[in-house]
Order: sequence, then C-alpha cells, then structure tokens
Amino acid sequence: MREIDALNRPMVRRVVRAGFLGAGAAIGVMVLVAVSGLAEWWVVLLGAVLGSMLGSLVGRALRPIGERFFGIATNARLLELANPSYPLLRDLIVRAPGTYTHSVVTAYLAEAGAHVVGANALLTRVGAYYHDVGKLMRPEFFFENLCGGQNPHDKARPERSAEIIHQHVADGVSLAEDYHLPSEVIAIIEQHHGTSLVRYFYRKAAEGDASIFEADFRYHGRHPQTKEAGLVMLADSAEAAVRALRTPRDDEVESTVRRVIGERLSDGQLDESTLTTADIDRLAEAFSRMLISMYHPRLEYPGESHRSEHVDIRHQPSRA
Ligand SMILES: [Fe+2]
Ligand SMILES: [Fe+2]
Repeated sequence: MREIDALNRPMVRRVVRAGFLGAGAAIGVMVLVAVSGLAEWWVVLLGAVLGSMLGSLVGRALRPIGERFFGIATNARLLELANPSYPLLRDLIVRAPGTYTHSVVTAYLAEAGAHVVGANALLTRVGAYYHDVGKLMRPEFFFENLCGGQNPHDKARPERSAEIIHQHVADGVSLAEDYHLPSEVIAIIEQHHGTSLVRYFYRKAAEGDASIFEADFRYHGRHPQTKEAGLVMLADSAEAAVRALRTPRDDEVESTVRRVIGERLSDGQLDESTLTTADIDRLAEAFSRMLISMYHPRLEYPGESHRSEHVDIRHQPSRA
C-alpha cells in the first residue's frame, strides 16, 4: 500500500496517455483496413490481438534496457534501487555503516516530507538513500563513520579537509553514473548540498588566517532544482544537526530544525527548488515531530548507566 501511495503520478499519467494513444491508433488502422476490404474482419481482429500481445512482451523485455542505459526512473527501477541488497547500497552498508544509517533516517524524513508537500515520495526516498554514496570513496573522512577511531582531519589542513568533504558529491555522481542510476536520482546527489558552506572547516581555517575566502569552503554543486532535491537537502541537514545534539529537549530539536532550514533558506539554496514558504514551514513541523519521536530519550531502568545507548550513537556530528 505504501508503494502504491508512492507511485510516480506524472509517470503513471504519461503511461496511461500513451496506452490510450496506442489503442486509438490500432483501432484506427483496423477500421481503415476493414473498410478498404484489404482483409477479412477476423484477420484484422486476430492481427490486432496478436500485435498487442507481442508489443506488450517486447515492451517488458526492453524495459530494463531503457531503465539502465537511458537512466529512466520507472517505479520498478526505483523499487529495485530501494532494496538494501542492491550492490551499491550493500557496499554502503558494509563499508560506511554510519553513512548508511544517516541515509536511512534522511530518507525516512524526506519521504514523509514528500507526502506533506505533494512531491514524488518514491523518488525522494531513493534519492535520499543514495545522496551520500560518494562517501564510499573515503568513508573514514566522514564523522558518522569514525566510531571513536582516529579522526584523519586532525592531521589535515582545514582547506584540504574541505576539499575532501566537497569531493563526495562529485564521487557520488560518478558512482551513480557507473551504476546507471536514473538521471533524477543523480540530480538529487549532485544538488543535495547546493553551494552551501562547509562551516566547520571554514571557521577552523578562519580562526588562524583572516585572508581565508568563504567561497573556497562552499560546495561546487547546483542548487536543488526540484522539490525532491530540496527535500533531501533539508532532511539531510536537519538529521545531521539534531544527531549532533547530546540530550536534546523537544524544544531544542524543533529550534535546531528551524535554524538549519532557515540557514538554507536565507543562503538562497532553495530558491530554485519550487518549494514554497508554506511548504517549508510544514516541513519544519513534520521533521521536528519525527526527530523528537526518534531521538526522545528512552526510560532508564534501575541499574542502567546514566546515559542511554542511543544517546551515544548520535553525538558525532555529520557535516556533510
Ligand atoms: Fe548526508
Ligand atoms: Fe552529503
């Protein structure tokens, strides 16, 4: 039922329209042939039935080729990509488990947001699953994968760290192209940071050098061009910011979500996304509600240590 709700409605409309046009054309040809007397009526009828069956079979056989080589985002292809056993996603689970967890939570938020603003929920979810796939190239440079180990950024200059962080967008696009992911999913990967600032390393660099340019610490991507890409950007930022809080109260979660979304908005990142101010307000509310329920501290039972386990999981910030 969930998948039916998530159907790509414009695509369904296109398919239905194409079906009616095809049927109309076939009936037209049948009538012409029958009227012209070139063949008996039953020969025309038999030809139409066999032709439509053959067309359906050929269409089914050619669909995977169209999906893979022309990057067409059919619902079947998106559902295939949403399966955790898809090779690229499986790689992410094994080699960058922190990033995979972050992507799943981002997808959960973004998909719910898609229902709120009337975007394509299935495409949004799949785009969120793959948005950070470029981190596979250097998983250890992203905070969510450190697991208490040595932070390689400690030995790098902030400029170099920012370059490595920026690179995960281009690497993600390149990996997605290698796997023939649909162009709509590749666009989400390319646009999920827009031209936003890698603030942590910018501040670190600016502390010791007044001649640092903010522009050098900005991503080189495109602003989100669709609601789906805008949703992934906002869900990604909200999830990372809330996870970085240690033991947030409900009002802190909401103020963090609103602050992060407000920063993206005032930075012009959502100007081309077609999300309206009313949409963004409803998204902030929906994301806050979901994040509060996810990160709400659970009851502590007698004999347990002061801090609960799941609070520990979220203390590492993800800034990419
Ligand atoms: Fe992310
Ligand atoms: Fe990212």
